[in-house]
Amino acid sequence: MVKICCIGAGYVGGPTMAVIALKCPSIEVAVVDISKSRIAAWNSDQLPIYEPGLDGVVKQCRGRNLFFSTDVEKHVFEADIVFVSVNTPTKTQGLGAGKAADLTYWESAARMIADVSNKGIKFQILSNPEFLAEELSKLAANAFLAQRISSVNAMSALCEATGANVQQVSYSVGTDSRIGPKFLNASVGFGGSCFQKDILNLVYICECNGLPEVAEYWKQVIKINDYQKSRFVNRVVSSMFNTVSNKKIAILGFAFKKDTGDTRETPAIDVCQGLLGDKANLSIYDPQVTEDQIQRDLSMNKFDWDHPIHLQPTSPTTVKKVSVVWDAYEATKDAHGLCILTEWDEFKTLDYQKIFENMQKPAFVFDGRNIVDADKLREIGFIVYAIGKPL
Ligand code: NAD
Ligand code: UGA
Repeated sequence: MVKICCIGAGYVGGPTMAVIALKCPSIEVAVVDISKSRIAAWNSDQLPIYEPGLDGVVKQCRGRNLFFSTDVEKHVFEADIVFVSVNTPTKTQGLGAGKAADLTYWESAARMIADVSNKGIKFQILSNPEFLAEELSKLAANAFLAQRISSVNAMSALCEATGANVQQVSYSVGTDSRIGPKFLNASVGFGGSCFQKDILNLVYICECNGLPEVAEYWKQVIKINDYQKSRFVNRVVSSMFNTVSNKKIAILGFAFKKDTGDTRETPAIDVCQGLLGDKANLSIYDPQVTEDQIQRDLSMNKFDWDHPIHLQPTSPTTVKKVSVVWDAYEATKDAHGLCILTEWDEFKTLDYQKIFENMQKPAFVFDGRNIVDADKLREIGFIVYAIGKPL
């Protein structure tokens, strides 16, 4: 039986190996990690990562040809093929801090593989940056995608200023087949573990190669993303009579996109921190993000987010002005305003009449993902702000 060992039971390693185990029953797959708690979670009923369908796949294969273990060296030793999917976050200090990829975890995994392998073994090493030929292509692809979002988000500000509707602009622009319709949704900002990290990396490579103008160009994509998040916070505060101090604000959605519990670089962190900076009380609901995760995200320094918690030197402090609840109705009860920060499908079908009745008046909705029917909500009585749309 061919044996695969994957080092790193994270967002990439866990789901990828589960699908390989499902599709290739004749291959034995071991996913290993230095994090005991992560491996324990993979072996429990409460998987550490949410993706639609993942639970079923893991239940079908676990114990059959899919194993999760902290015995890293044993499985590397036994494997015919070793995958490395450890974290490569943005460096927090030293050369290239804030931009370059931190390859500490990757190098330590590579050294360990060399240590445990028998003498005389010949390695074939493959780099798999998502089926793209060169590493640089992956950075460019993500930079182009993020650039589309920052471009449409920049347009959303102009739409608000002029009374145009950004969704109509996106639609028209996207019908030009040279541009295409995808990745043109205006939002509160892009998040995720990849876009910002890859652009910062691209910027660093440009700077190292004496191309400051090119580096500056790509930096703008991140600057517009930061601008979009702070614009959203400004809109909330200014709409609510220039003060949110001690007002309850419901936050619906904390993950960086729907159908995941992943909060890395989620715009919700900056928006929540902005509102907390203006002394708001936040009540947060996300269908897949735990209270622990939210409290940790809101109490951390920016570039620490992507470093696994068990590898971090400092323990998080508790945020007192934040409560995390497991229901959108509970989050919005007695709130002055509600902010939609992730496009979860369930937020489209909430009983907004009921929500309105239980909120303070005037009741504000700030739709950071343009998923609710603003006109219907206005009929109910809400004051609605939607990104890039007339008030
Ligand atoms: P992650 O942080 O979710 O998981 C990485 C895991 O590796 C952690 O659980 C950590 O404990 C473990 N680890 C670190 N050092 C280890 C070691 N020496 N031995 C064993 N385990 C170790 O990261 P991820 O999102 O799965 O990303 C992994 C890699 O794939 C990164 O390079 C990332 O840039 C890349 N990538 C990520 C995505 C994505 O969508 N998240 C997509 C494509 C590529
Ligand atoms: C991104 C790329 O899309 C993948 O192709 C790539 O494999 C991955 O990075 C990676 O490098 O690993 P991901 O970050 O998981 O994938 O999620 P996306 O769907 O790209 O969304 C990123 C962010 O942009 C999210 O916050 C999303 O809400 C936002 N977004 C996306 C918008 O604001 N508007 C859009 O039109 C599309």
